[in-house]
Amino acid sequence: MDFATGWLGDAYLWVKAFHVIFVIFWMAGLFMLPRFLVYWSQVAPGAPENALWDERCGRLKRIILNPGMIIVWILGLLLGFHLGWPLWLWAKLLVVLGLSGFHGWMIGAARKFAAGERAYTEKTLRLVNEIPSLTTIAIVILVIVKPF
Ligand code: HEM
Repeated sequence: MDFATGWLGDAYLWVKAFHVIFVIFWMAGLFMLPRFLVYWSQVAPGAPENALWDERCGRLKRIILNPGMIIVWILGLLLGFHLGWPLWLWAKLLVVLGLSGFHGWMIGAARKFAAGERAYTEKTLRLVNEIPSLTTIAIVILVIVKPF
């Protein structure tokens, strides 16, 4: 298999379609998890609701967030080789790397909450809740407008 420019041939649009489908799933998870953590931060450590939020965040991670991110990356990289890595795509990749870091940070925060730590205040969580929206604006402008 050589990943030369244009290697996807007729499959290019199908790969791009599924890339965007899984982008929507991943973004849905990235919008939901910070919100879950805001509500969880209002629950006292040791209260029975902790187990409920732990289960909700765990399912969101296993069913939507992690599969979504992995498939977006795999299909995105396949598309990147097909297009031959233009400059706008490197900028997009940088922003998506940041978003993937945010994904990991959120999952780490949920793990701390499950251990009874309240590592982040509700105010901080409400603030970071804006990160997925701001990065999505930057990413979609880069990939649709291709400004450079
Ligand atoms: C994980 C790393 C990613 C890589 C390597 C990547 C790469 C690509 C490439 C090469 C294309 C094809 C562009 C074209 O055909 O003109 C594409 C399309 C697209 N990507 Fe990504 N992408 C990634 C993640 C994301 C994320 C996180 C989002 C949204 C938040 C996103 C949104 C889109 C959209 C909306 C399109 C369709 C653009 C069009 O039809 O013109 N991608 N992506």
